[in-house]
Amino acid sequence: MRLTPLLLLATWSVTAQLNPDCAPGGNFDLSPWELQLPIGSAGDPETISSASLQGCSGFENFSLFFTESGDGALVMKVPGSPSDSGCVTTPNSLHCRTELHEVDPTTGAGASWSPNDALNRMIVTLLVPEPDDSEHGTVIGQIHIVESFSVKPVCELYYNANGDISIGVEQTISGGDEVFTSLGNVPVGTSFTYELEYSSGLLKVAINGVFQTLDTFELDSPPSYFKVGNYNQGSTPSDVHILSIFVEH
Ligand SMILES: *[C@@H]1O[C@H](CO)[C@@H](O)[C@H](O)[C@H]1NC(C)=O
Repeated sequence: MRLTPLLLLATWSVTAQLNPDCAPGGNFDLSPWELQLPIGSAGDPETISSASLQGCSGFENFSLFFTESGDGALVMKVPGSPSDSGCVTTPNSLHCRTELHEVDPTTGAGASWSPNDALNRMIVTLLVPEPDDSEHGTVIGQIHIVESFSVKPVCELYYNANGDISIGVEQTISGGDEVFTSLGNVPVGTSFTYELEYSSGLLKVAINGVFQTLDTFELDSPPSYFKVGNYNQGSTPSDVHILSIFVEH
């Protein structure tokens, strides 16, 4: 897949502004995000609030969540699986994550929006130097159903060790039966841009500007929020480098 000149320009201009001497919050607008880490007590991992993430001297941890010294990218790392690395998961997952969870930027509480609204989209430019060893790979973005409705996602975007990108969409609110669609290949470590959009009841995904509309089966537009980062699905470490994040409602 080719990048259009417009996307190349957008990627370049965002990347050029990243300051390697700042924590991620000095380079990225992290006001609509809190951070989930793979450390802390089992079933209750550490969460860093939106307020603590913001600014050049915001939260940074040089093994998990930090600014890359060369290009200023936001680096998110996961050491592996709970059994191999001793990392810690959330109560409803078997896998560890260093992942941003969307919040309301004014209150810092978990975000919730309706997929029937006119516009909900997230556009992320990133590279994945080290995907985990699972079949579909590391989850690099999600639309998740709000916890009062379900502990499952609407969809998860995966990137594997061959550079294959795929999306899994749940068929029901109770979930556990994702339908996978292949979205192409980007060589490991090469930057690309993805977009997840769930607007006017329609779920769409784009890789480098090429859109597909996806079946949402019986999901029926449940209240949702975005996630972005590194949600490991395998038993080897994973490393995700983010160059830009844009969310719009
Ligand atoms: C940073 O992450 C490591 C685990 O990789 C952990 O041991 C340490 O406590 C973390 N530091 C902070 C300030 O969260």
